[in-house]
Amino acid sequence: MTSPLVSIKNGVENSQQLVIDPTKKPTLKGKLTIPGDKSISHRALMLGAIATGETTIEGLLLGEDPRSTAACFRAMGAKISELNSQQVTVMGVGLGNLQEPIDVLDAGNSGTTMRLMLGLLASHPDRLFTVTGDNSLRSRPMSRVVKPLTQMGASIWGRKDNSLAPLAVRGQQLKPFHYHSPIASAQVKSCVLLAGLMVDGQTTVAEPALSRDHSERMLRAFGATLEVDRDTNSVTLTGQPTLRGQKVIVPGDISSAAFWLVAGAIVPGSDLLIENVGVNPTRVGVLEALEMMEADITRINERTVAGEPVADLRVKHSQLKACEIAGDLIPRLIDEIPILAVAAAHAEGTTVIKDAAELRVKESDRLKVMATELGKMGAKITEQESGLEITGGYELTGAELDSFTDHRIAMSLAIAALTAKGKTTIYRAEAAAISYPNFVETLQAVCQ
Ligand code: S3P
Repeated sequence: MTSPLVSIKNGVENSQQLVIDPTKKPTLKGKLTIPGDKSISHRALMLGAIATGETTIEGLLLGEDPRSTAACFRAMGAKISELNSQQVTVMGVGLGNLQEPIDVLDAGNSGTTMRLMLGLLASHPDRLFTVTGDNSLRSRPMSRVVKPLTQMGASIWGRKDNSLAPLAVRGQQLKPFHYHSPIASAQVKSCVLLAGLMVDGQTTVAEPALSRDHSERMLRAFGATLEVDRDTNSVTLTGQPTLRGQKVIVPGDISSAAFWLVAGAIVPGSDLLIENVGVNPTRVGVLEALEMMEADITRINERTVAGEPVADLRVKHSQLKACEIAGDLIPRLIDEIPILAVAAAHAEGTTVIKDAAELRVKESDRLKVMATELGKMGAKITEQESGLEITGGYELTGAELDSFTDHRIAMSLAIAALTAKGKTTIYRAEAAAISYPNFVETLQAVCQ
């Protein structure tokens, strides 16, 4: 189904402009499924690549980020089928057997690919690896993983005192390690744990608040031994396990569902059912925030699929209320803050988002970009050092906006445009394909 409300124009150098013109006010109705979870997709490809035997993956995200992961691990000897179907197979090399690639590994736009992979590369003795990424990724901090890996005995070199890609890694036999991470980051935690796989002994990572635990769940499923201490938010991995290929079923990505949850909540008359959404407790911060905002969301048919909690989510329009989003909740909704800012612009009162300085080092500076771009639409939004303040209830007006090549910004602005008066054009909207290849088609289908 297409909608006159949503159209795409081709721009220069494969860029696309997404035009949303809600002259006829839309309501969002129907059932939809969302693409596979990005975090779980990366981990399934990586663990499949280093395990012994075959891994089959159902529901893998076919976005650009997992494609970067697949390309890197193919270059190191894993046999990964084409990522163009709902079932992907990975023939692993076996733990410790990643080959020295003959060229630079390119992680594209994907921080997860680069940071998790660095843990594996650093722990493969006697091999040299070079890793790079796109403009955005080459400006994102890698010292957060380079430092702990170096303390484990890794040899890593890069620009700006080894903190920026391109990075060169000379693999080493690493040592047992206990790391107190200063930030709650699943990428840091997973990087150190993956490095610990090759260590003779134990590797512990403690973090200040609990970040997503997909690595812990999947490492266990592949045969590793991990102990989790919820009191100290720490996890201990015993090195040199036998990892065996598994069947992985990837649930829908709650970070992608979040766009429809907010769209359904803010567009009058909407009623959407989003099926097969991963509702891992470490990822449902967006549901908790929207509940605080009095959104009308129900979880239906809660179940566990291949070790991950899954549910269908129904959302109906309601008047949202402002809330405070801060503290330990932040890591559990870290990728949903741009779309929650859109929700806040429709909520009564002033929503305060705090403790979110991490957003400055995502695919773009998401605090700055959301403040400027939503500001152009007339939202009352102010950028704070580590958060945002948004006073809702001001009508948004259509504007010319830029995604800054950040997928989550492109999609958040598209949802904001649905309630605006007049036409919005989002430049560089093709960025959505990083995590949501058919976002525009789904938007067209649900707008009635
Ligand atoms: C991810 C962890 C988060 C998140 C990113 C995916 C992961 O990053 O923002 O999109 O798959 O581990 P941080 O670990 O930097 O918080």
